[in-house]
Amino acid sequence: MATAVPSEASTEGASKRKMLLNAFVMNTPSHLAAGLWRHPRSKTDNYKKLSFWTDLAKLLDDANFHAMFIADTLGPYDVYKGPANVVPTLAAGAQFPVNDPLYLVPAMASVTHNLIFGVTASATYEKPYALARRFSTVDHLAEGRVAWNIVTSYLDSAARNHGLKEQIPHDERYAIAHEYMDVVYKLWEGSFRDDAVLADRDSGVYIAEDAVRQILHKGKYFEVPGPHFCEPSPQRTPFLFQAGVSEAGNGFGGKHGEAIFVGGQTPEIVKKTVDNIRQVAQNEGRDPSHIKVMVGIGIIVGATDEEAEIQRRDFISHSDQEGALALFGGWTGVDLSTYADDEDFRLSNSPRLQSLVKRWAETVPGTDNEPWTKRKIVEYLSLGGMQAKLIGGPTKVADELERWFDVSGVDGFNLAHVVNPGTFEDIIKYLLPELQRRGRFRTGVEKEGATAREVFLGSKRLLDDHPGSKFKWNVGEKLPKYQQSA
Ligand SMILES: Cc1cc2nc3c(=O)[nH]c(=O)nc-3n(C[C@H](O)[C@H](O)[C@H](O)COP(=O)(O)O)c2cc1C
Repeated sequence: MATAVPSEASTEGASKRKMLLNAFVMNTPSHLAAGLWRHPRSKTDNYKKLSFWTDLAKLLDDANFHAMFIADTLGPYDVYKGPANVVPTLAAGAQFPVNDPLYLVPAMASVTHNLIFGVTASATYEKPYALARRFSTVDHLAEGRVAWNIVTSYLDSAARNHGLKEQIPHDERYAIAHEYMDVVYKLWEGSFRDDAVLADRDSGVYIAEDAVRQILHKGKYFEVPGPHFCEPSPQRTPFLFQAGVSEAGNGFGGKHGEAIFVGGQTPEIVKKTVDNIRQVAQNEGRDPSHIKVMVGIGIIVGATDEEAEIQRRDFISHSDQEGALALFGGWTGVDLSTYADDEDFRLSNSPRLQSLVKRWAETVPGTDNEPWTKRKIVEYLSLGGMQAKLIGGPTKVADELERWFDVSGVDGFNLAHVVNPGTFEDIIKYLLPELQRRGRFRTGVEKEGATAREVFLGSKRLLDDHPGSKFKWNVGEKLPKYQQSA
């Protein structure tokens, strides 16, 4: 039986609830802050060297970060000045080029003890049989410290490069993903009985002969006979991250996600998303507290408010306008090159742009009376993408972060960076001691070498109320339950 052991993050009284913290990164020169790769405090031009990643992993592990979350896309951002134009991304290294994230994990796991690695992979373009094998392999090598960030992908460029003329419609991508999950649960949970692997040198039996079965999956989108090609890894199903904001996205996350990533410009707005996700989980028969919700946020922290402000201006002076607008085009599908340079997007006749930019303007102090032109959008995005930003000395940022935490009801934060490792070094130096002093962040790990699911939910295996649990093949069962009725 897998039941939740309350983790530190959920046991303390309301005022002392501790935050989960992730570092948000990508295997590319500029993740969210276009052009900042060339800043003196950024080393991301070394993204293709293992030492860049092992150094970063050690930095985060030593500071008690819970996880590193590695984003990924399967095609370039080519909407701005497009169609199909990657030139604006090139100087900035703006999510181009992008290397595969999963290969980084075994190396980083080998130099750390506790950090969890969340890796993005697409249920739209990767085949479930191959994905299940890749994650099982890495879960073995990382001794259970890997999570899969399930995405359905959103770029036309990815669709075109995977043999499609255009993207599969949004909600159908999620319908496919639901069946995809059944396939991988069967492979991970229901293809090898829990006591299948004997590795008994005396009898010469590696795996018991009656303990491996084909999964014989035949559905609308997939036909996978199995069996799984890997023996069960420490977590079987890797811990499941998910991020979605639409109804279909939240429906998927509320059913399958174990940690869910959300965005939002104010804690009040985020609270609505958090409540909705927990409601979906409840409707799916899950205990809503069995989902950890994390909100994305950008932090620029210095020794004082003034130092942070100097940094902010310095970062903006290193930003790359074309790269930022290319990222914006990829995220929103809107090509800002078709708009005039002096257009105030708070007044735009595109309702989507107007509402996006108005929400930004409302949260950036002192800008309500300035026009939000392309240049201003570039400034905003250069400080770590579309998410909300907290800028200041330790007290100011910790105050704000606590307010976000308490008002929104999230379990933690996904921390974007402007410069890498610079942003994380500053958070570790200035912010974490302040949060620890306030009892809001852990000063050590709860358990050495814990698996991803243990860190977030206190259990090694999928919890009993998770939909993947119905595919488990338990000790003593001749057949897994999902095959008994078939
Ligand atoms: C913190 C965060 C990280 C994300 N990382 C990725 C990613 O690495 N790759 C990707 O294709 N989409 C990523 N997304 C996008 C989501 O998977 C999702 O497509 C998007 O939030 C839109 O929601 P929807 O699919 O419900 O429309 C991320 C979203 C958030 C909030």
